[in-house]
Amino acid sequence: MGTAVITGGGTGLGKELAKQLSAKGYDILLVGRREQPLKETVQSILASGGQASYVIMDVRSLTEIEQTLSAWDSQDIELLVHNAGVGYFGPLESSSDEEMVATFETNVFGPIRLTKAMIEAVTHRSFTVINVISTAGLRGKKNESLYAASKFALRGFGESLQKEYEESQIRIVNAFMGGMNTPFWDNSDHVEDASRFRSPAEVAEMIVSQYTETEEIIIESKK
Ligand SMILES: NC(=O)c1ccc[n+]([C@@H]2O[C@H](COP(=O)([O-])OP(=O)(O)OC[C@H]3O[C@@H](n4cnc5c(N)ncnc54)[C@H](OP(=O)(O)O)[C@@H]3O)[C@@H](O)[C@H]2O)c1
Repeated sequence: MGTAVITGGGTGLGKELAKQLSAKGYDILLVGRREQPLKETVQSILASGGQASYVIMDVRSLTEIEQTLSAWDSQDIELLVHNAGVGYFGPLESSSDEEMVATFETNVFGPIRLTKAMIEAVTHRSFTVINVISTAGLRGKKNESLYAASKFALRGFGESLQKEYEESQIRIVNAFMGGMNTPFWDNSDHVEDASRFRSPAEVAEMIVSQYTETEEIIIESKK
């Protein structure tokens, strides 16, 4: 098996996907902004006998994407998981322009730019992209307007590419999940009790068991 690139792979769902994809035989290449969580995830994969490394990269920066890709051997990359994401929650009139821009730069422009650059690099062989979306990409929710708008955008990007590349070996998988108990909620009072959500390990297991069979994975919240 080749390499799986996972953005936001130091924490939460990205970390669990990294561990489980490593157990399936992928070499793992993690991307994120903070070194410490990336290092810890790499160490835990190495300790389990897997192969892993990381690169510091901000998915909002086209310059950083181009620099990083020029240093990678793209021919080894078989799987790209757009997992890095941010959310600012609350009424629209309380949101700032900076929050809107950061949401779209991280959740939409980053995945679009990285996908385009990777497809240009690996188009002659089999390649899968997983978009980590959210059930907020299936239906709008109160006080989630910016987040839902960004996740609808990522969904539309993925669905269009599914049609564009249907005759090729490039596969695009859109994954929609409900709430997960991750650091995503650490600085937010938008949810009352994230501990009632699914664990990121449980969601990662569902994605890993389904992504080779289907292009749409829906994991609703626990009732
Ligand atoms: N938690 C939920 O309830 C939930 C539900 C549905 C969908 N999701 C989606 O699941 C994905 C993973 O989130 P999570 O719940 O696992 O939360 P998380 O632990 O906060 O993970 C997000 C990761 O993205 C990275 N990241 C953020 N901005 C980045 C940037 N500009 N460049 C590179 N990396 C960046 C963060 O690391 P650095 O800060 O170090 O860069 C972090 O490791 C997100 O796309 C989120 O929208 C979450």
